Amino acid sequence: MQAINASIGFDQRLWREDIEGSLAHAGMLAAQGIISADDETAIRAGLGEIAGAIADGAFTFDPALEDIHTNIEAWLVARIGEAGRRLHTARSRNDQVATDFRLWVRKAIDSLDEQVRGLMRALADRAAEHAATIMPGFTHLQTAQPVTLGHHLLAYVEMLGRDRGRLADARRRLNECPLGAAALAGTTFPIDRFMTAAALGFDRPTGNSLDSVSDRDFALEFLSALSILAMHLSRFAEEIIIWTSAPYRFIRLSDAYTTGSSIMPQKRNPDAAELARAKAGRIFGALAGLLAVMKGLPLAYAKDMQEDKEPVFDAADAAELCLAAMTGMVRDMEPDAGRMRAVAGADFATATDLADYLVRDLGLPFRTAHHVTGQIVSAAESRGLDLVALPLAVMQEIEPRITEAVYDVLTIEASVAARRTFGGTAPDNVARAAARWQEALA
Ligand code: ARG
Repeated sequence: MQAINASIGFDQRLWREDIEGSLAHAGMLAAQGIISADDETAIRAGLGEIAGAIADGAFTFDPALEDIHTNIEAWLVARIGEAGRRLHTARSRNDQVATDFRLWVRKAIDSLDEQVRGLMRALADRAAEHAATIMPGFTHLQTAQPVTLGHHLLAYVEMLGRDRGRLADARRRLNECPLGAAALAGTTFPIDRFMTAAALGFDRPTGNSLDSVSDRDFALEFLSALSILAMHLSRFAEEIIIWTSAPYRFIRLSDAYTTGSSIMPQKRNPDAAELARAKAGRIFGALAGLLAVMKGLPLAYAKDMQEDKEPVFDAADAAELCLAAMTGMVRDMEPDAGRMRAVAGADFATATDLADYLVRDLGLPFRTAHHVTGQIVSAAESRGLDLVALPLAVMQEIEPRITEAVYDVLTIEASVAARRTFGGTAPDNVARAAARWQEALA
């Protein structure tokens, strides 16, 4: 029974929040005349001692006492006697754990949000540095049109900005205090739930006692936000893995974020990126797991809900590691501008610019221009030439009105510089967008 029932092995991570919650509860009990001022003083002193002991590693958690709540309470009673026995008045472990866990998730949101901001800042800095560095842009992982590296990095800044929005949104909804719901129905004592809510930094007490002890939406929303964040980090990790591979060679990572092979001395493996890619899997697993735990539970509390903590702790730890590794890699990576430029210039990446020229300068309808461009690309391909190197006479055989001016649009520099539309890849745009983000994130 003890082996399956005890949660102290993992919920000891809630000790700070458990003590915070008990301090707020004791303060309120005394203010409401439910316990005496002397009892409150004794409880405060005892909880302070426990906090010190746990922080020093001098506290032994006892699995026979099941969880963090009973461990701390038993120690308090052993230490201060009768007053300690009054702390649990008008409270249950059900509202206690719901409160502790909300406090823990709230802190985790704040610290992860700060890390996401740091990653965005690193990306914006590198984007400013590479606002004009040309690389191939892909669709279907096939060369499509040239873009700048800065533009590509800022795409991730946009994604991460939305992740921060989701975390902030989850935090806003989380920030109600379940303490005082007691076991499920409320309590007969004249408690002040608004007082404990305020003392713990919550916006207000939760509205329904049954919901208070049976709700884990805040944990699920946290895991949902982390899942989307992890999906973004995993996509970026995948790009780093591709970009560092020998056939691409777009970027180089230093030894700080790569490992050697035990057999092939030349290897520089992007293990950190691979692990960041993989950890998305365990974060999604945490979300799916907790959804499955919750889906069939009748109101109100059931012990099933004790299974909420490990996936949340694990996902938060994994997200923290991924963010640290990705931020390190963004600062560490050294782009090979020459290599990216060479690849960006191959495979007729400026074909769209040619079609746009036919529309703009010759007045062709876009569909016709698309068709003519296709013929010109075939002509270049069969001669083994790039579009810029294709003689004017060959193009004129296909469309006689094409002039020398066409070559102005066929270089990759002209191609990116011409995409000045809002949100487009022109280096000036990218430099401005990077500067805006740097300022916003400072
Ligand atoms: N350790 C329990 C949990 O994590 C605390 C709540 C226990 N409540 C109960 N009625 N047994 O859910």
